[in-house]
Amino acid sequence: MARRCFVAANWKMNMTVSQALPFASQLATLTGGEAAEIAIAPPFVALLPVGQALLSSGVALAAQNCHAVSSGAYTGEVSAPMLADVGCRYVIVGHSERRQLFGETDSLVNEKAKAVLAAGLCPILCVGETLEEREQGKTLELISWQLQAGLAGISHESPMVIAYEPVWAIGTGKTATSAQAQEVHAHIREQLRKLWKEAAEQVRILYGGSMKASNAEDLMSQPDIDGGLVGGASLQFVEFAAIVEAAKKATGHKQQRNA
Ligand code: PGA
Repeated sequence: MARRCFVAANWKMNMTVSQALPFASQLATLTGGEAAEIAIAPPFVALLPVGQALLSSGVALAAQNCHAVSSGAYTGEVSAPMLADVGCRYVIVGHSERRQLFGETDSLVNEKAKAVLAAGLCPILCVGETLEEREQGKTLELISWQLQAGLAGISHESPMVIAYEPVWAIGTGKTATSAQAQEVHAHIREQLRKLWKEAAEQVRILYGGSMKASNAEDLMSQPDIDGGLVGGASLQFVEFAAIVEAAKKATGHKQQRNA
C-alpha cells in the first residue's frame, strides 16, 4: 500500500486574521481525497477562525509550535491541550526556525512531541542540517541524532509525521534536488526501521525547503518522500492548490509502481 501524500502549509508569522479568513474559505475548497491529505498551520491567533472556516472541508488544522507543559505559569505560551481544544490535529515541533532563533534543543523538541501526543494530536517533527553541516559531510549523522533524540521514549504506536527540512533550502529558493532529498529520506526511513521496525513503513516523511508547484511532483514521487511542509508557496492559493494536485499525482505514481 502506497502511503497517502500529505501536504502541510506552514504560514509562519504571516497573515492577520482579517487576511486569513478569506484565504481560509478558498483553502476549504481544496480536496485531497484518497490521494492526498492537506493541513494548514496558521499563527496561533488565527487558529480558531481558520479552523471554523475549514470545519466542513477535508482540510485539517495544524499549529506551528506548542509548549511542553499542559498549563501553568508560562506567560505568553500556548499548550498542546489548548491546541486540541481549538480543533488542531497536527502540531509542528522542532522547526529549524524554533531551533535556531529560539534556542530549542533536541531534548525540548522531544518533550514537545510527547506533549502533543499526550493531548491526542500528531506531531510533525522537523529535522534538517545547515549548509555548513552538509559541506562537512555530517548530514546523515546529524539527522540520525536529531531523530533519536526527538523520538526518545516515544512508542512505535504513536501517530508521527517527520519533516526533513534542510536549513539551507528554507525560504532561500534553493531546493534540494529530488535525489539529494530522497537520499536523506531513505536514511530517515532506515533509522525509523531500527527504532520502530515495520511501523516505520507507515510514517510519512515530508520534504520542506522551497517546495513549489514546479518541483513538488518530482520530489513527492520519490519512494520515501511522502509529501511536503510548504512555507512561502503556501501563502498563494494557486501555487498551493497546484502542490496539492502534484501530491495526488505522486500518490498515483507510487500506487502504480507498487501494483
Ligand atoms: P519554505 O519553508 O517553503 O518557505 O522554504 C518551509 C518551512 O520552513 O517549513
